Formats: sequence, C-alpha cells, structure tokens
Amino acid sequence: MNILLVGGGGREHALAWKMAQSHHCDNLFIAPGNPGTASIGTNVDIQVNDFVGLKNCVLENTIDMIVVGPEDPLVNGIYDYFAKEEDTKHVNVIGPSAEAAQMEGSKAYSKHFMQRHAIPTATYAEFTHTNYAEGLDYIKAHTLPIVLKADGLAAGKGVIIAFTHQEALTSFEEMIQNKQFGEASSKVVIEQFLEGIEVSVFALTDGFTYQIIGHAKDYKRIGEGDTGLNTGGMGCVSPVPFMDEDFMKKVEDRIIKPTIKGIQSENLTYKGFVFFGLMNCGGEPYVIEYNCRLGDPETEVILPRLQTDLVSLLAAADNGTLEDVNIEYNPGSFATVMAVSGGYPGDYKKDFPIHGLTDAVTVPGTLVFQAGTGFKEDAIVTKGGRVLTTTAQGSTLQDAVANAQKALAKIQFEGMYFRKDIGYEFAS
Ligand code: AMP
Ligand code: GLY
Repeated sequence: MNILLVGGGGREHALAWKMAQSHHCDNLFIAPGNPGTASIGTNVDIQVNDFVGLKNCVLENTIDMIVVGPEDPLVNGIYDYFAKEEDTKHVNVIGPSAEAAQMEGSKAYSKHFMQRHAIPTATYAEFTHTNYAEGLDYIKAHTLPIVLKADGLAAGKGVIIAFTHQEALTSFEEMIQNKQFGEASSKVVIEQFLEGIEVSVFALTDGFTYQIIGHAKDYKRIGEGDTGLNTGGMGCVSPVPFMDEDFMKKVEDRIIKPTIKGIQSENLTYKGFVFFGLMNCGGEPYVIEYNCRLGDPETEVILPRLQTDLVSLLAAADNGTLEDVNIEYNPGSFATVMAVSGGYPGDYKKDFPIHGLTDAVTVPGTLVFQAGTGFKEDAIVTKGGRVLTTTAQGSTLQDAVANAQKALAKIQFEGMYFRKDIGYEFAS
C-alpha cells in the first residue's frame, strides 16, 4: 500500500524507518519530513495542518493510509476531514477524531473522562474568568506543591508546578487574566501534585480493543540528575526495569481497559495511538495525561524494540483484527539519547552543519533519527532545538545507553549538547 506520514520530527523519522521495513509498504511519502526521512521515502513540502494540500497528495499518489505523527492536525480534525470527503473516506487515517483528540486537546475534557470512568488521576478543579475568585481561594487552601495546567494545547509549556502559594496565584492570574497562553489558558485545571516516577505507555486502539506496543521512561529535564528546565524530552530507555508484569497488570486493569471501554461506551471514534503519561506513585499507577499520538523521543526507542510489523498492526486497527495480532519485542534493552542545540530549551542558533552522520551509523546496533534538521544546499544543518537522537540496543540498559553515546560521539555540530546520564537511576 501507499502511505502518507504526516510530521517532520524524530518521531516521524522513526515511524518512517519502521514502516519502510514492512513488505506491505510500497511507497512512503512524508509531509513535510526532514533530511532523515528523505533517505527513506519521498518528502512532500506540505505542512501538517494544510489538509487541502494533504488531500491533493493523497489523490495524486493513491494513498491508502495516513499516519499522523503530531497532535495539532489531530486536534484540528484531520481524521474527520478525510472521513467526510467522498473521494478520501476509504483512506485509513491513523488517529482519533477531533472529538476523541480532546483527550489530549483539553485537560478538562480528559479529567472529566477519567472521572466518569473511575481512572486513577490527581484530584482537581477547573476555573475560568467566571469563577476566578473561587480559584484564588482554592489555591490558597491547597497543599503544596500545586499544579496549574492551561486547558488547551500550549506547545508543551502550559503546565506550572508551583512550590509556593504566591507563585501559583501569579501563574493563575497570568493564565486567566493576562491570557498567557491565549485561548488555551482561558480555562485552567488545578490539580494535586503526584510524587513519583513518570513513565509513558503506548497502545494502539481501534476504539474497541487495543494492543500495548511499548513503554518507555523519558528524561524531560535539560540538566543531568533531572535538573533545570523542562524540554520535549532528552532521551529514553525501554523497557523500564520497574515496569514488570505486576505493575503492567495494574496499568492495564486500572487504566488501559477502563480507558478503551470509556472510548467505546461514549461512542468516540478513535483509531490510533493512545499515549498514557503515567506516574508510578510507590507502585500504584496514576494518569498524568493522555496524548492522542506517539511520544517523541519515546517513539525512537519503542519502535526499534518492537519486532511486530507496524504496517500490519495499523491495517489490523482498520479492519477489526487488532485483537488477533501478536506483539513481539526484540530482545535486550534500548536507549535513545537526544542531541540539542546550545541554549535549548531557551533561545538557540540554527543552520550549523552537522558532521559525522554516516560515521555514527557504523556503530553496530545503532540508529540515528533526525529531528530538527534541514538541508542547506547539499549539507544537513541544524534547524531546531532537538536536533537528532541516536538509538541503540544493548544486552543491558547500561550497554544500550553506552552504545547510543558511542554513536553520538561521532557526531558534531556547533553548540551540541546531550545528557550523559540517561538511565542513571537504573545503573547497577
Ligand atoms: P503535561 O503537559 O500534562 O505533560 O505536563 C508536563 C509535565 O508536568 C509532566 O510530564 C509531568 O512531569 C508534570 N506534571 C503534570 N501534572 C503533574 C502532577 N499532577 N503531578 C506531578 N507532576 C505533574
Ligand atoms: N516526550 C513526551 C511527549 O512526546 O509528549
């Protein structure tokens, strides 16, 4: 079949790499892609929210399946757009409907959903300008720390963890009165702080049944020892040592099954990935958030670890056979280490040439996935904060991290930075 992959980051490079291995994949197009995906399929210069442009591409290239990487087009209704048009409704779009994408697009929507289906999550309340004064009282009476979340999508910046009441009150005012995140913060969810270790679990659903396709621990802070500012993710390991059978059974019984049952009982159209952002609080899993897509850089470890053919899986989600698929994993551990531009997640410069990409892939068992890269004439240069990631397999988690670092050591660009302690808490 012909596949159109929507997106252009490290997650999409990993998706392209995995899907291209399938004998079901004839032609792969990536919109807009990056220099990494250009070496696997055909990049088409169409932005992810340009649905008309994507439709033209679908018709011109007789696309059978669209795989949507980022959340933006999903929340904006890409699924519904293709489903409602006569000439594209046969296309298998992997992603939820706009309504179901509210699981990620609105924090309040997802909290209501969890409450309706008794899914463990932090206690919360929600506020707008109409009950602003109540919000102030709620904050003053709340234990610390306290978590404030802009309701809508805020490019990963809409969550504030306040350690004093004053900080929480100021953030609340910024969000609601001063529209810090525009419309996204016209509603604010205030919730209990959950103490624990954060992990990501990924499932593929057709809205009725599901398959778990992997899990990972993402290292979100810029600094070693989990210090400094939050980023999109600086590296991941998979599998996670504490996510044993016992813990995963709790995750499935208390979280995944009730979520899929909830999607079904509410008649939500959801054929796509569900990303469960979880907190392991002393062995008990709680939902921090739902995302309606795969994670980045989680995808860069879970797909290399997944042995099962991804295109077959995605086809099964479309034709009602998802339950019959056998999920298999490659042996050993996997790690990915992200190289970022100097200054990220603050301001950084772009357009620096990247050296050593071909050398890096000569390290056995390693892969390079490009994220914020671009072409400048024939050279590959930096174009974003998170530039590229190296993924490696190892017989142990430590070996996997060491191999990923070995590959990264062959790559250079001006200002390059990466965390050298990915997986540190699991070192024996
Ligand atoms: P989100 O945008 O929901 O992913 O939140 C960003 C980050 O804030 C999460 O990845 C967590 O690290 C942290 N966070 C969000 N909610 C909570 C919570 N209730 N307790 C502790 N940390 C949280
Ligand atoms: N790495 C976290 C995310 O993709 O949201």
